[in-house]
Order: sequence, then C-alpha cells, then structure tokens
Amino acid sequence: MVSEYEVKDIKLARAGRLLIGWAETRMPILLKIRGQFRREKPLQGLQLGTCLHVTKETAVLMRVFKAGGAEVALCGSNPISTQDEVAAALAEEGVNVYAWRGETADEYYRCIENTLSYKPRITLDDGADLVTILHTKKTELLKNVVGGTEETTTGVMRLRAMADAGALKYPIVAVNDAYTKYLFDNRYGTGQSTIDGIMRATSILFAGKTFVVAGYGWCGRGIAMRAKGMGANVIVTEVNPLRALEAAMDGFTIMPTREAAEVGDIFVTATGNLNVIRKEHMLKMNDGAILANSGHFNVEICIPDLEGIAVSKRSVRPNVEEYRLKDGRRLYLLAGGRLINLAAAEGHPPEVMMMSFADQALCVRYLTEHWKELEPKVYKVPDHIDQTVAKLALDMMKIRVDVPTKEQIKYLKSWEAGTI
Ligand SMILES: NC(=O)c1ccc[n+]([C@@H]2O[C@H](COP(=O)([O-])OP(=O)(O)OC[C@H]3O[C@@H](n4cnc5c(N)ncnc54)[C@H](O)[C@@H]3O)[C@@H](O)[C@H]2O)c1
Repeated sequence: MVSEYEVKDIKLARAGRLLIGWAETRMPILLKIRGQFRREKPLQGLQLGTCLHVTKETAVLMRVFKAGGAEVALCGSNPISTQDEVAAALAEEGVNVYAWRGETADEYYRCIENTLSYKPRITLDDGADLVTILHTKKTELLKNVVGGTEETTTGVMRLRAMADAGALKYPIVAVNDAYTKYLFDNRYGTGQSTIDGIMRATSILFAGKTFVVAGYGWCGRGIAMRAKGMGANVIVTEVNPLRALEAAMDGFTIMPTREAAEVGDIFVTATGNLNVIRKEHMLKMNDGAILANSGHFNVEICIPDLEGIAVSKRSVRPNVEEYRLKDGRRLYLLAGGRLINLAAAEGHPPEVMMMSFADQALCVRYLTEHWKELEPKVYKVPDHIDQTVAKLALDMMKIRVDVPTKEQIKYLKSWEAGTI
C-alpha cells in the first residue's frame, strides 16, 4: 500500500512490525474491536488526523482505524517520543506518518501541518497542539472537521479553556476523563512507566532513596505508589488541599517544595502546571539530585532557571544531562525535562493502552454517528462506552462479577425503606 510519509528510516519497518505484533498480543480488546470494524466498516472513507505518541500501542489503534475503513494521517504528540521502527512499519502499512524521534520544534509543527493537510473529518489529539494549529494557522480546514477526541489531562484543560473563551469550533470528546482511561492509564500506566523511564535512564537503586513527587493527581498517585513499592521514602508536594489530604492519608509525607528540595534524591513532576521546580528549589538541592518530569509539557521543571544557575553542562548518559553549579554541586536532568516514561522507556504498557485506545476507537465511531447532535463543546465519554470497555477488560482478565438481583435494583432506586 502506498503512503506519503516522513520517518527516520523506512528500513526499520521490519523491527517495527515485531514491536507492534508484541503489543497486539497484550491488547486483545483492540483486536476484538478491530474484528468488528473490519466486518462493519463504520469509518469507511473517513479521514482521520491523529497527533499521538507514535508507539507500538498507538500502531495497534491505527490498525483498528484502517480496518474500519478510515484513511489515517499521523504525527507525534511530542518531539522525542516517537519509536522510529513503529513509524516506519505504519508508513509501510499505508498510514501517512510524519514523525521521528528528535524533531526540532519547527519540525514538530511542520509534521502537525502535514497531518492536517489531509483535511481530517475527525481529529485525535494528545495535548491539543494539533487542535490549536487548526484553530490558529489552518482555520480554512475547520469546515471539514465534525469532531475530535483528546487523550490527556493537559489537552482537556486547554480545550476547556478554548470552549470557555468561545474559540472551540467543533465538539471534542475528552477521552482522558473516561473512568476506563484516567483511573488506569494515568495512575497505573504513568506510575509504572515513569519508574521504568528513570531506571532505564539512570540505573539507580530506588530502595532507601528520598523520592519527591510533585502533584498527587492521577499520575502523581501512581508514581508515588510505585516508588513506595520499590522501597523509596516518598514525599508529595501539592497545591490542592484535598489532594494533599488524600496523599497524607495514603501514608505519604507532605511538605512544601522548598523543604522537599533540601532532602530529595529524585524529583518527579506530574502536575500539568509550569515552573513547579525552579531556581529557588534547585539552589537548595543536594549534590547528585535527579530531576524528571512526567507531565505533558517540558515546562514543569524550569529549564531556563537550571541553565541560568549552572556553570557547565554535559551529557553523561543517554537521557541524562549533568548541570554543575558554582559550588560544584551536580544536578541531573532526565530527558530534557520531557515525558520521562516516553523519552527513556516505551511509554505505558500495552494492557493499559488497550483500555484508553478502546475508548478512542469507540468514541471515534460515536462521533461519526452523533456529530450532528453535538455542539462545539468538550464532551464526556458516553457512559455506555466506559461500561463497555470496563466489561471487556474484565472479560479479557477472566474476572467475573455479580449481577444485582431485580429486588436489589428496585431497592437502590427507592426511598421508602429505611431503618429496620
Ligand atoms: N507521562 C504520561 O504518559 C502521562 C499520562 C497521562 C497524563 N499525563 C500528564 O500528566 C499531567 C498530570 O495529569 P493528571 O491526570 O495526574 O492531572 P490531575 O489534574 O489529576 O493532577 C495534577 C495535580 O497536580 C497538582 N498541582 C498543580 N500545580 C501544582 C504545583 N505547583 N505543585 C504541586 N502540585 C501541583 C494539582 O493540584 C493536581 O492535584 C498532565 O500534564 C497530563 O497531561 C502524562
């Protein structure tokens, strides 16, 4: 099949097919949906513009869309998260791929524009960069678009801000906010893969280390939980009193960042906010402190501050940059402050991406059937899709659950019965 593409090296396709094949063995729900899509062709002739991390799991989703009859263009949602083997394999399979690991900022946005040049009917975004370009630089293409989906918390926040400002021009389903997405992907996916990324980058021992997690949201709690499981002493920093209280009752130590800075060995941000770790904190850190980010953008650790206080900088391992301060202390920044789990490891495990991407596939189908009823707003994932994905996941895990009796259903909907 012929496709137009720009990838690192098309000869990597064979290695990419092996990676995708491995992911498929761990993503049976997507294979089931692919079978349905192949039979029913719900996306026949539909042009999809997708901006997602180009990983082996994303490739499995792209195959679902192709099976459903869609034409797919794909670019990366981060300049350094693309798995080049996977991009090559997808290009060979007829996906118009514009992605490689190590894109410059200009190249990153050029890839988004190339993806948009196919005039998508439906967009899939992870972080809302594609939607933003569509609404700012490529407004002439908006008339073709009937709907979109958004994969991550930061993207949903940006889209809500767009909708509030009256700037959003078509309906977008917030896939991130499905229970079958954030409860599992953000928590267990980011939890495991962030630790994996730090370990692959540094090879350090976690046991006995003081590990600081900024943000006790769905990602932060997963990271904290897994770091604790590895034997680290975990400190959580927060700005939201409720979340701080939860972290305290989950058994973590809570303190302001400036105090945590003095005792931490490893710092990981997962807040979706900017300049969470900055000069005033860096200046207090111990020699050898490691800084990593798992939030969507590389703004959580203030890199200009780090550059400003350092007298020298050198690369000491792949994904590890050593910054030397005036007094000789060394701070280590991982993956340039970009998503550590995708930059230094392989992103989330296929089992969790199976659920997030089942939501994506079913939401795209939903949009093709319901776009006429929707307004240019950010929508929740329909409850029936969430329930379907949860049931499918339980089936695949061979877990059976009880079914409420008719009497119980009636009781739960009544108010008359009380204390006996
Ligand atoms: N690495 C990945 O693969 C991956 C996966 C999913 C989401 N994300 C990204 O991770 C980020 C967090 O997502 P989430 O779902 O956990 O969001 P969330 O909204 O559930 O949690 C964010 C938390 O950070 C806290 N916070 C905000 N500013 C802070 C500050 N200055 N100091 C300390 N805490 C602060 C908030 O109070 C909140 O509790 C987002 O950018 C999201 O897009 C990354």
